[in-house]
Amino acid sequence: MTEHLTIVEHPLVQHKLTLMREKNTSTGEFRHLLREISLLLAYEVTRELELTTRGIETPMMEMEAPVLKGKKLALISILRAGNGLLDGVMELIPSARVGFVGLYRDEETLKPVQYYFKVPEGLEDRLVIVVDPMLATGNSSVAAIDLLKQAGATNLRFMCLLAAPEGVERMKQAHPDVPIITAALDEKLNDKGYIVPGLGDAGDRMFGTK
Ligand code: URA
Repeated sequence: MTEHLTIVEHPLVQHKLTLMREKNTSTGEFRHLLREISLLLAYEVTRELELTTRGIETPMMEMEAPVLKGKKLALISILRAGNGLLDGVMELIPSARVGFVGLYRDEETLKPVQYYFKVPEGLEDRLVIVVDPMLATGNSSVAAIDLLKQAGATNLRFMCLLAAPEGVERMKQAHPDVPIITAALDEKLNDKGYIVPGLGDAGDRMFGTK
C-alpha cells in the first residue's frame, strides 16, 4: 500500500455509514452496521496480501492453488471501541491472531497512558492491522502504534470508520509508514475533540452507554 490515506468509497460502505451517523439509529442497528462495514473495510485493508500456491486435488484434477503466504496476520484492537470493528474483521480472517491495547487519558498531562497490552508473539513477521473506529486527535492511535513498534511490529495498517484531518496529519507526522484506511474523512474536530459531523461517541453508541 503506497497511499497514506485510503477512503473506501464503495457505495455500500457510504450508505451504511450514513445510517450509522443518524442519531436515531438504535444500538442494535449501529452494531450490526459496524460489523457489516468492518467486513468491507477489511476486504480493502487485505487487498495486497501476498499469495503463494499449494498443491490440492479438486474432484477433477490436481492443481496448484493460491493461498495466503507467510505468518497469520495480527489484528490489534484499541479498547474499547476497537472491539466493534474487530468482530467483522475476525469473521473475514478467522485464523488471525488478536491483541488488545488499552489506553486512558491522564487528566493532568492529557497524554495517553497504557493500562492493558496483550499482543500475539512474532509481530515482526506479521502484517499488523490496528483497528479503532474514530481517528480523532490521533493521540491514542499514535501511542498504540508506538507500543506495537516497540514490541517488534514493522508492517502495520490502521483501519478506522471515520477520520478527522487533525488525526490523519498527526499520524502522518508520527508514523508515515502506516497507511490509514477509512470509510470517510470528516470536516474537523470540535473543541471537545469530537469528529464533526461525525457520529458521536462510537463506544457509547455501540455498547449503549452514555
Ligand atoms: N471518539 C469518538 O467516539 N467519537 C469522536 O467523535 C471522537 C473520538
